Amino acid sequence: MCHSRESHPPIPPIAGASITHSELVLESADGTRFSAFGAVAEDAGGVGIVILPDNRGLSGFYEELALRCAELGYSAVAIDYFGRTAGTDPRGADFDPAEHMAQTTQPGVQADIAAAIGHLRGAAGGAADGAQVYAANCVACHQATGAGLPGVFPPLAGSEWALAKDAVPVNIVLQGVTGKLTVKGAAYSGQMPTFKDKLNDGEIAAVLSYVRSNFGNGAGKITADVVKAAREAGKDRSQPWNGDEDLDKLKQ
Ligand code: HEC
Repeated sequence: MCHSRESHPPIPPIAGASITHSELVLESADGTRFSAFGAVAEDAGGVGIVILPDNRGLSGFYEELALRCAELGYSAVAIDYFGRTAGTDPRGADFDPAEHMAQTTQPGVQADIAAAIGHLRGAAGGAADGAQVYAANCVACHQATGAGLPGVFPPLAGSEWALAKDAVPVNIVLQGVTGKLTVKGAAYSGQMPTFKDKLNDGEIAAVLSYVRSNFGNGAGKITADVVKAAREAGKDRSQPWNGDEDLDKLKQ
C-alpha cells in the first residue's frame, strides 16, 4: 500500500511513552550499507519488529510507524530497500524509486532484513531474547529449570544473588565468580565464567531479566543502561569476583 508523503499511521501517539529512536546505517552480510530507522521500547524484551516499507523505501510514514510500535512496547526497525544502488545519503524530490526498485534482488532484500533482525537482537536494538541467550549460555550449568546441580552449580531459582539489586547479578555475569560462594545456605566453590567479551549489554540485560522473572523468581527487569554502566565501571578488572568475600560488599 502506498501513502502520501504527509500521511501518518492510523495509531495515535502515546503521550509520555519513554522510547529512544535513531537514524541508522546497517550493514548486510554482503557488505551493503543501507539506511534504517530504529525505535527502542522502554520495557523492551524478546519481541522486535522489522518494518518493510512500501516500494518507495524508507519514508516518514514508516519511521512514525516504528515509533508507534515502540510506544506500544515493541522495539522496531524500518529499513530502506535501495542501499545497494542509491546509497544512504538523503534523497531529494527527484529520487525515482522505480529505477532502483528494478535493481533490487530477492537475496539482497533478504540480506537486509537479516541485518535488521541482527540489529534488533543486538545491544542497541532493544529486542534481545533472554530465553534464547539463557539456552545458549547458561543452561549447561544452571539447568533449564534454574535449579543448578547440587554441590556443583548453584541455583538461580530463589537465589539471593540473582535477585539482589541490579548491580550484583550484572557484575557476576560480566566478570564471573570463583572461590567460595554461599547460595541459599549451601557453599559452592566453582568457576562462573566471565561473559563480558561474549554477550553485549542488551543480551546481558535480557538474560538477567529472564532469570529474574522465571524459575519462580519475581524480581524486576534489568536494563541495558545498567549493564553499560557496570561494564564501564569494571573495564579495568581482569579477575573474576572472589565469591562471598567480594560479592557481599557489592550487595550492600
Ligand atoms: C560453566 C558453568 C556456568 C555457566 C555456563 C554459567 N554459570 Fe553462573 N555460576 C556457575 C558457578 C560454578 C557459580 C558459582 C561460582 C562459585 O562457586 O564461586 C555461578 C554463579 C552464578 C550466579 C550467582 C549465584 C547464583 O546461583 O545466583 C549467577 C547470578 C549466575 N551464575 C548467573 C549465570 C548466568 C545468567 C549465566 C549465563 C549467561 C551463567 N551463570 C552461566 C557456573 C556457570
